[in-house]
Amino acid sequence: MSIFPKRRMRRSRSRHIQPLLREVTVSKNDLIAPLFVDELITAPKPIESMPGQFRYPVSGIAAVAADLWSLGIRSVLLFGIPKEKDAVGTSAYDPDGIVQHAIRKIKTTVPDMVVITDVCACEYTDHGHCGIIGKSRHGTDLLNDPSLELMNRIAVSHAESGADIVAPSCMLDGVVGSIRTALDEAGHEEVLIMSYSTKFASSLYGPFREAADSGYSFGDRSTYQIHPANSREAFLESQLDMDEGADILMVKPAGFYLDVLSEVATLGLPVAAYQVSGEYSMIKAAVANGWLKEKETVLESLNCIKRAGADLIITYFAADVARWIDEI
Ligand code: PBG
Ligand code: ZN
Repeated sequence: MSIFPKRRMRRSRSRHIQPLLREVTVSKNDLIAPLFVDELITAPKPIESMPGQFRYPVSGIAAVAADLWSLGIRSVLLFGIPKEKDAVGTSAYDPDGIVQHAIRKIKTTVPDMVVITDVCACEYTDHGHCGIIGKSRHGTDLLNDPSLELMNRIAVSHAESGADIVAPSCMLDGVVGSIRTALDEAGHEEVLIMSYSTKFASSLYGPFREAADSGYSFGDRSTYQIHPANSREAFLESQLDMDEGADILMVKPAGFYLDVLSEVATLGLPVAAYQVSGEYSMIKAAVANGWLKEKETVLESLNCIKRAGADLIITYFAADVARWIDEI
C-alpha cells in the first residue's frame, strides 16, 4: 500500500505536459492597442506618466499602425487630442477633426486593421467632463439626456470616416441605444458598438489624464462612473448596455476588477477588459526600480485577465506582448 495519494497534482506539471493542459493563452488576436493622436504636434511626444508611450501626430499615425500590423496586432483604439476645446465638445464631431483624419489615414494604409474609436467628449471640452454640463438639482454636473445627441454626432462622424467599432466611454444612461439608432439611421448598421459598459470611477486613470489631456476642471466623475465597492450595480450596467444593443461589453479597469469581469462574462456577449494607464504605469515604475520583471509580470497580468473571462484585452503593452509571443 502506497502512502501517497492517487491524485498527484504534480504529475500534470512536468514541463512537457504543461503546455497540453494550459487552460488559457493570450494571443495576438485578443489584443487591442490604444493610440493617442495629437493635433498640436509634428513629432512623437513621450507621455511622461506612461514610460514607453507616445502621443503621435496624425502624419505619423499610419506608420505606427503599420508597425503594429506587422507585429500581428489587428486592432487599435484611437484617442484624439484636438487643437481646440470648447464647452460643448464641437471638435469631437468635426469631419476634419483629429480622430476622423487618423481613421482615414490608418484605413488607407492598413485597410484590415480594426479601427475602434473612443466616443467621449472629455478630450474636447474645456471643462474636461465627458459631455455637456449644466445645472442639475444637485449643482453643476454632467447632464445626461442633453449629452446623448453629442455622442450620436461623434459616433456617426467616426463611422463616416471609416471606424469599424465605436466605443462610448461616457457612462451616460441610454447612450448605447441612442448611438445604435443614430448609426442605423445614417446607414451604418454594420458598425459595431463596444460599450465601456462597466466603468468604475477609478484612481487608475491618473496617467491617462496627461496622455489624453482630459483632466477635469471641477468635481470628479463619480456621478457617472461606478463606485469601486459596487458589484451588483456594475453587473446591471453591462446588462442594460447588452439590452440596448451593445455588440461587445467592457470592464474597466481590469486587474482590480476580475470578479466583476467574470460575472459580466456570464451575460454571453464578448467582453473586453481594459488594462488602464495606472495598471501600465504601476508595472513600469516597479520594473524601472528593479522590483519586478517586466515580461513575467505583464504576461501574468494578461493571463489572469483572460482566465477571469475576457475575450479581448485593451493594453498599452500590446506591442511588447506581440514581440514576446514571437519569442516563445
Ligand atoms: C474617457 C476615457 C478615460 C479612459 C478611457 N477613456 C478616462 C476617464 O474616464 O476618466 C481611461 C483610460 C486609461 O486610464 O488608460 N472617458
Ligand atoms: Zn470621457
